[in-house]
Amino acid sequence: MDTLHRHPNGWIGKEPWWKSAVFYQVYPASFKDSNNDGWGDIPGLISKIDYLHQLGVDVVWLSPMFESPQKDMGYDISNYQAVYPRYGTLSDVDTLIHACHSRGMKLILDLVVNHTSSLHPWFLESRSSKTNPKRNWYIWKPPRFDSSGLRIPPTNWRSYFAGPTWTWDPHTQEYYLHLYDTSQPDLNWENPACREEIYSHTMIFWLSRGIDGFRIDTVNKYSKNTAFPDAPITIPDSPTQPAPEMWCNGPRIHDFLREMNTRVLTPYRAVSVGELSNTPLPSQVLPYVSASSNQLSMVFEFSTIRLGTGNLFSGKYTYHHFPLSTLKSHISTWQTFIEGTDAWHTVFIENHDNGRAVSRFGDTSTPHLWELSAKTIALWQVTLTGTLFLYQGQEIGMTNMPNTWGIDEYKDVESKGFYDEAVASGDEEKVKSTMHGLGILARDHSRLPFQWDGEGRFAGFMEDSLSSDDNSTSIEDGNLKEEREAKPWMRVHDDYKTINAKTQMDDDESVLGYYKKMLKLRKEFADLFIFGSFRLLIPGDENIFAYVKESVEDTNTGVTNRQAEKRRALVVMNFTREEHGIGLDIGEALGCGHDNRSEVRFLVGTYGDAENLKVANGLMMPLRPWEGRVYVNFGVQLDQAN
Ligand code: NOJ
Repeated sequence: MDTLHRHPNGWIGKEPWWKSAVFYQVYPASFKDSNNDGWGDIPGLISKIDYLHQLGVDVVWLSPMFESPQKDMGYDISNYQAVYPRYGTLSDVDTLIHACHSRGMKLILDLVVNHTSSLHPWFLESRSSKTNPKRNWYIWKPPRFDSSGLRIPPTNWRSYFAGPTWTWDPHTQEYYLHLYDTSQPDLNWENPACREEIYSHTMIFWLSRGIDGFRIDTVNKYSKNTAFPDAPITIPDSPTQPAPEMWCNGPRIHDFLREMNTRVLTPYRAVSVGELSNTPLPSQVLPYVSASSNQLSMVFEFSTIRLGTGNLFSGKYTYHHFPLSTLKSHISTWQTFIEGTDAWHTVFIENHDNGRAVSRFGDTSTPHLWELSAKTIALWQVTLTGTLFLYQGQEIGMTNMPNTWGIDEYKDVESKGFYDEAVASGDEEKVKSTMHGLGILARDHSRLPFQWDGEGRFAGFMEDSLSSDDNSTSIEDGNLKEEREAKPWMRVHDDYKTINAKTQMDDDESVLGYYKKMLKLRKEFADLFIFGSFRLLIPGDENIFAYVKESVEDTNTGVTNRQAEKRRALVVMNFTREEHGIGLDIGEALGCGHDNRSEVRFLVGTYGDAENLKVANGLMMPLRPWEGRVYVNFGVQLDQAN
């Protein structure tokens, strides 16, 4: 249901439901396996819907579960209208839709239409001959020849997964374009017939079945530079060159998205969240998400989540340390860019393409610091403006895979591409630094099986039919043996006995308990946390992250001799393992002034000892390791808030 809300820019009206909703991404292979084949599946997800509901999730975003050869974990679709058999059936999706809707929740699917799998019938037709009616549904180009007559690709562009963006087709003697793996040919959005089929076959089909919208993959890459020029040489000695400007935010992208919106999104009242990479300027992002431009509900902008990552097209996995001030400045940019506009934004710090937040932005060096920093990350995320997206396992503080695990545990096509490239270079240092970077940033970390409990060998992700004291290898029956040997498609993290949902479920003081509490609080104070304006404080401080959120609603403190004030919240967080004092006055930060400290109230913190802080009122005690606190300038029912 859309809700009446007063916007910080003064506008009062109906806010769409999805602005205040909590979205939760499920990566189907790794969430919950119901039939013990080692792969998560839709029935497994359905069995956990109540867990998500109790957490406070409003919308499930299910990553690709369509038929696919799984070269890129389902982002290579060979049939948009069928479910990958390991994940279930169409009727399972119907059951999932019902399971969500009957609890007042919604479901969105991933829409992957920049490319298909090379096994999709459209591509099989397209590659069958130059005169096939679907030839022009993909991007085909004749070869070029170098000075010695050697055949070379139409451009020098480098793909996302290492290697060229072009693959030679011996049958029709032309190259086809693929921004990602060679098995993911790009669709030709310039072709209206192709676009029409995308709308009806991949979108309307699912919306008619009852889903509520889409997360849209690579949403800004449909419009290419159709002159297909070479990219400037920025990596000498390499046959391929970074060329994102040839396909990101291309000349017709906004026309395409407006058309998609008019044809499908608006008529079906579908929510949309687009993946917007290589778009680092607010002025580039606004046209996508401004309500009046009728394109997308919101987008994922990646500058924060990519912190520490090297150049996407060369040293992506060469890790770069970054100071807290850089993180803060990105957050400030992306928190404020919608202020005074009709645009909207997202809040997220994890997804299936990045390492775990607590390992990258928190501190996993001891169990205590792990827990403290996971809670501070939760506090940080829930107090930011925009629609909040959580990624599976974030709510229990799942961590990156141990750094003792070798390259064999990395299954991702991209990780392998970059690792193989480093090995092929013969440069030992490059191999080492790539491995180091993968250890922090690889997409594999977030794809480890969800840790449901600390039992057996598989953390409750799937059943473990082999009890730990049964090392028997003499099972004769073939079926039984196969069943016994089934194991998760990715190795379960070594820490599942201590980090799992079951141990945290009934513990209010756990990371999970904290997320639950904070998701409620976020909605209770929606005017501040979901819709409020953002002002960064002490930007240069490398230990403390502090900001003020402000709504346009009055404080209603009951103080009669002062003018009504705006409601404000001060969020202060220590992003280090040492205690740190704070060089700012809470009263001033909250606009109460020096002499009005009594109006400062402690709302919530990450340490479970709110009593001391209530007494302390306006006096800012130093922040303990990874401690976060929120103070407000209005009266609150403290018991209720804490
Ligand atoms: C972005 C997706 O999030 C990623 O997982 C995928 O590999 C690429 N797009 C290609 O579809």
